[in-house]
Amino acid sequence: MGLMIRELFAPDINADFFTALSALAEVGLDMEEAKRVFQDRLRQGVHTYIAILDGQIVGTASLLVERKFIHKGGRVGHIEDVAVNPAHQRKGVGKALVGHLEERAREKGCYKTILDCFDNLEPFYASCGYVKYGAQMRKNLA
Ligand SMILES: CC(C)(COP(=O)(O)OP(=O)(O)OC[C@H]1O[C@@H](n2cnc3c(N)ncnc32)[C@H](O)[C@@H]1OP(=O)(O)O)[C@@H](O)C(=O)NCCC(=O)NCCS
Repeated sequence: MGLMIRELFAPDINADFFTALSALAEVGLDMEEAKRVFQDRLRQGVHTYIAILDGQIVGTASLLVERKFIHKGGRVGHIEDVAVNPAHQRKGVGKALVGHLEERAREKGCYKTILDCFDNLEPFYASCGYVKYGAQMRKNLA
């Protein structure tokens, strides 16, 4: 499969990128708003990656590296917003994205990567080597 994964740049933000993200949730931004959000995310250290198949963006995932006081100032990679265009799911794109982000996290000095997911996606993340650890808690603020 001719799959390429690389970091997203502003000119990549197009309808195919939105279609991939929509597998996760409604985007609710126009292209120009999304480009401003992209710059803000970069300033916050959130790096967005895209999977490209035959010239088309078919998937995306994001990585945020957090520096901690504990673990001797160690770094943790947070994997967020993994999403694959429904027409291209079950082809290995999601697994390749997660693996790519782990490599980037390793390069940035992370000692682990963590993520949240719904129970139904445990088999997917288990196939990527993840194990269940604790519980996710949430409180809506808006
Ligand atoms: C979850 C998602 C990213 C998986 O991407 P994908 O490209 O379809 O997954 P892959 O083809 O790389 O699958 C890798 C493995 O996980 C398994 N898998 C994938 N999706 C699965 C699912 N929904 N349920 C159970 N197993 C699944 C595959 O069978 C495959 O197993 P294998 O390695 O033994 O062959 C994709 O289905 C998606 O975008 N879903 C909607 C958005 C979402 O919920 N994202 C996750 C947010 S935490």
